[in-house]
Amino acid sequence: MSVLIKGGRVITAADDYVGDVFVDGERISLIGESLDVDADRVIDASGKYVLPGCVDPHTHLDMPFGGTITADDFESGHAAAAFGGTTCHVDFCIQAPGTSFGEALEQWHAKREGKAIIDNGFHIAVTDLHDGGSLEELASLPEQGITSYKLFMAYKGALMVDDETLFRTMQVASETGALVMVHAEHGDSIAVLVEQALREGKTEPKYHALTRPPETEGEATNRAVQLARIADCNLYVVHVSCKDAIDPIARAREAGWKTWGETCTQYFFIDYTHLERPDFEGAKYVYTPPPRPKEHQEHLWAAVRSDILSVVSTDHCAFTWKEQKRMGIDDFSKIPNGGPGLENRLHMIHEFGVRAGRIDLNRMVELLCTNPAKLFGLYPRKGTIAVGSDADIVVFDPEKRLTITAENQHSRSDYNLFEGVEVTGSPEIVLRRGEVIVDGEELLGKPGSGQFVKRARFGEELTAQAART
Ligand code: URP
Ligand code: ZN
Ligand code: ZN
Repeated sequence: MSVLIKGGRVITAADDYVGDVFVDGERISLIGESLDVDADRVIDASGKYVLPGCVDPHTHLDMPFGGTITADDFESGHAAAAFGGTTCHVDFCIQAPGTSFGEALEQWHAKREGKAIIDNGFHIAVTDLHDGGSLEELASLPEQGITSYKLFMAYKGALMVDDETLFRTMQVASETGALVMVHAEHGDSIAVLVEQALREGKTEPKYHALTRPPETEGEATNRAVQLARIADCNLYVVHVSCKDAIDPIARAREAGWKTWGETCTQYFFIDYTHLERPDFEGAKYVYTPPPRPKEHQEHLWAAVRSDILSVVSTDHCAFTWKEQKRMGIDDFSKIPNGGPGLENRLHMIHEFGVRAGRIDLNRMVELLCTNPAKLFGLYPRKGTIAVGSDADIVVFDPEKRLTITAENQHSRSDYNLFEGVEVTGSPEIVLRRGEVIVDGEELLGKPGSGQFVKRARFGEELTAQAART
């Protein structure tokens, strides 16, 4: 199958020009002006943007968490992603305490089998180096294309690790060239604050934020940055939500330390007051770190503009409000933490980043496509439009108007964090490795057609050849 995308405005992290893109099989084979080639399908992209497929490095599909399982599996999550222009993501494979990393990976590979529509890789979430996974096994994972280790510095009694586990993992990463990712919050103080709040009868959703103040995120971010320096490993701080966490990352990057950070779409738009909404509606916004007071949002925009933060991900961790979130109706600490977002990252960042004049189109592509691909060992196979890259392409209509609403979304969650928001600009046609998986309102990508991607080690490039062997 060959596809010729004609006359679109091709936008990468570096370029912006009108041209034709010819896709032969799974890869881009020619880019030029007025290409004279035969193709099985010709897409007229005049007036449209031709963007690289977006890469989301932070998602939780089919994940047991908070006493339930996330609402989206690899099929519904991938449908949502595809309509949002995301053609590749890296999901968290969680090591259950007492089990090996190999067992965890086997489970997660089975979850995507027969369901995947877009391509994906896995991070390994390390929870136990005593009775389950060993340091030796951890060191062997990059050979299987698992080139990032995730550690939770919060969720005490569940996923949280101690500093020894964090530091030993960092030392392994320094040896193997893996990237260490941290969920940075001070888990011990949060556990105390939660217990005290509940004892005082403070049970509503807003206490989720009031028991996890920004300082807990600032402290843990700084701790991770300093430990990574001692271990001499590459560090990536996930879901940065506030100035308190931006500051230590800014210092580290200014000093040239090997630190990177991401924020997520929701932190630009949802603030603390959403948690105060009556009739348990605040529960929709219970995710971690929590929505912050509004003043943090301009700090986040400034940080993504100046490359203190290099990626915008979604942290898609969807639950239903009517059923799953109700588990915490009498106790905010029992509300499953997480929200949906995979489908609307590009919509929201295009509308409120690019159209609002906060970032330009190149920076948008860098934040949503190129930087995640580079940091997570997917580039240049993913994350750009270039000869030889996978033909993961979004034909984006910058004039299409859309009202974001749960009613027309593809996630199985029953609400949308951005309900009622009107945007101008939406993906029209989405290709994944040369196959049209979304055409207008129609999902054409078949469950089972998405591939697992073996990622390269940090700083190394991923060739199409390496990813398949
Ligand atoms: O609330 C969230 N973010 N849920 C997913 C797990 C995590 O901490 O990323
Ligand atoms: Zn987290
Ligand atoms: Zn997450």
